[in-house]
Amino acid sequence: MSNKIRLIVFLALYTTISVAQSVTPTKKADVFFNEPEIAHKVDSLLSIMTIDEKIGQTVLFTSGWDVTGPTVRDNVMEEIRSGRCGNIFNRHTVAATTKLQEIAVNETRLGIPLLFGYDVIHGHRTIFPISLGESASWDLEAIEEGARVAAREASASGLHWTFAPMVDISRDPRWGRISESAGEDPYLGSLIGAARVRGFQGDNLKDVTTVMACVKHFAAYGASQAGRDYHTVDMSERVLRETYLPPYKAALDAGAASVMTSFNEIDGVPASASTHLYTDILRKEWGFNGFVVTDYLAVNELIPHGVAKDKYQAAKLSINAGIDMDMEGGAFMENLKKLIENGEVTEEKLDEAAGYILAMKFRLGLFEDPFRYSNTKREKKEILSKENKEAAYQMAKKSFVLLKNDNQVLPLKKNQKIAVIGQLANSKRDMLGSWKATGSPKEAGTILKAITKKNGKKNTTFAKGYTFKPLDFDHYDNSGFEQAIKNAKDADVILLVAGEHWSWTGEATSRTNIHLPQIQKDLFQELAKLDKPMVVLMMNGRPIAIGDEVDASDAMLEIWYPGTEGGRAVADVIFGEYNPSGKLPATFPRNVGQIPIYHSMKNTGRPYTPGVSKGKYHSKYLFTKNTPLFQFGFGLSYTTFEYSDIKVSSNKVSANDNVTVSVTVKNTGDYDGAEVVQLYLQDVIGSVTRPVRELKGFKKTFIKKGKSATVEFTLSKDDLSFFRQDMSWGTEPGDFNVFVGGDSDAELKVSFELE
Ligand code: BGC
Repeated sequence: MSNKIRLIVFLALYTTISVAQSVTPTKKADVFFNEPEIAHKVDSLLSIMTIDEKIGQTVLFTSGWDVTGPTVRDNVMEEIRSGRCGNIFNRHTVAATTKLQEIAVNETRLGIPLLFGYDVIHGHRTIFPISLGESASWDLEAIEEGARVAAREASASGLHWTFAPMVDISRDPRWGRISESAGEDPYLGSLIGAARVRGFQGDNLKDVTTVMACVKHFAAYGASQAGRDYHTVDMSERVLRETYLPPYKAALDAGAASVMTSFNEIDGVPASASTHLYTDILRKEWGFNGFVVTDYLAVNELIPHGVAKDKYQAAKLSINAGIDMDMEGGAFMENLKKLIENGEVTEEKLDEAAGYILAMKFRLGLFEDPFRYSNTKREKKEILSKENKEAAYQMAKKSFVLLKNDNQVLPLKKNQKIAVIGQLANSKRDMLGSWKATGSPKEAGTILKAITKKNGKKNTTFAKGYTFKPLDFDHYDNSGFEQAIKNAKDADVILLVAGEHWSWTGEATSRTNIHLPQIQKDLFQELAKLDKPMVVLMMNGRPIAIGDEVDASDAMLEIWYPGTEGGRAVADVIFGEYNPSGKLPATFPRNVGQIPIYHSMKNTGRPYTPGVSKGKYHSKYLFTKNTPLFQFGFGLSYTTFEYSDIKVSSNKVSANDNVTVSVTVKNTGDYDGAEVVQLYLQDVIGSVTRPVRELKGFKKTFIKKGKSATVEFTLSKDDLSFFRQDMSWGTEPGDFNVFVGGDSDAELKVSFELE
């Protein structure tokens, strides 16, 4: 098509609403975000598209700039030029995206712009703490701001779409992707998922500083058996709905524009072929109006899953289940036309899929100006801006969780002799964790550098102690012990940085043990023998079993992978310029045998209460306690908080009443500090068994030393509701216990009766 004709098509389709409105409205007018204007435009466009062009819109290929899965094709330019590929991921920067956009706009018949996606998970170039770390802040505003910064940078780099938030509930630390999640709890996970969507998308997708969110991985990917990635998921509909679905729903309610499928099967059906998930729940029950993309090669993987014999069948199952876009595998591209010709997929189905995608391109304003994200000046200004780094720094401080602080070893006084030990203390790459998008290790400050800056060169020594080999857990070379021990002997304080190599976390990094490598365990014990104060910083992407190491240290701070600005954040906390306030978003088990272990477990018919339960026949282990190493919600502060005076608005309430619970929290220590005040609810008797307690509220509250605050929570009918025995959602009369405190073991209790 000549440029002139293309222009005429553009004008006819995209300019005047009156033209658009003259097109007969279809059902899509309801579905495309109740935006009739967009629905009309989509309809108009579809009416002039060939089947091949429509199929092209359902295709997403990687450009090969980043490797996030097996690469199966190499000539994306040609695929774009031929109109066979309407969407690209793993390519960024204004220069690179503009080049591809020019091909799509100038060299294809209709000039439909490309959509550019990328995994911007915890920052684009300015890297924030890993998602599990951010979640430990329990600070929804800061989390939203983190996503906002990521969106600003990503969109300034020519991107329209991020494959985030990942909201998979995970209760299995063997699963490496727990690091990408918000942890174990559906309530916390829902609020965090929604905050991230708001941060990425802002109020208006047309705003060029925002990106479309993609809620992933639908559904229940975090429950893979034995924590092995991509493994089978099998659970009751009740557990699915009670625990796993709420965060996806919350993120969609916050307006998320797209959803990604998960690799796993549920109840015998691979998610990427699940009509139950995509048509029944997502579209019909929840009224989702955005588009659904598969995960990487997930359509092709229906073959090894054993539900399709070839890509033809796989594509058929997938699109008919309600999936709109095929990531990387080419199954839609190669088979949809034949499927339509053979009557196995309807053209309406293809229109629907392509329509959902085109609607987003309209919403992003790409048809008005396909190059609106191609602004090199903005790119230069936005990337790693002072403001962005400041936000990452603030977030990092908030993400740290103080796990132990005997005798108030922390905060350290400056200008003591500090022996910094551990390869992780001097590693830039590890600071960024997995899924670091375009983050560059060069731009990350190390812990060693930041500590040395504050404590002075002459008072700070460094020894590697242990060394890592990226994918070798058993690598054992203790030649660094001698220097480390020597430095430690000469120092007043040992500052050991231990944990996991970043490459042991994230996708395809499942572990069958969750302890530290032997080399680190041995170093811990050697250093502990010196009888010097030992402060430990833990860098890890999953809850780990570190009971021996906790015992061997005087203080321990969980810092996850803290991001580009993590080094200075650590130094601030170590030297008391910032009082840590993070709380664990996932339970830390004592050992791998306790998994799954989470705070909202059921009581069982034979519960075990230490010191009370007598005899053998209880739900417990022989040689390990039932309790975890660190419970969900746990985290210390340099100060102490005392809880008292818990009150409920009424001891008898009816189903439509709100219940108000208040508590007094006093800062009884020597530092100002923030406390995450947490509320847990127990529904004592139900038609089905109820968890021992569920998180139903939290408030991060800053309290000056010596001062008190009254913290108030409101429980609504929804908070008291659950899926009753007949699977209807609602309340049942009876007694409720409310516990308020600083973690999931909170003891301060008040009760009320629901009439
Ligand atoms: C991951 C997704 C990711 C996609 C694209 C997959 O392997 O499971 O989370 O968004 O790759 O990079």
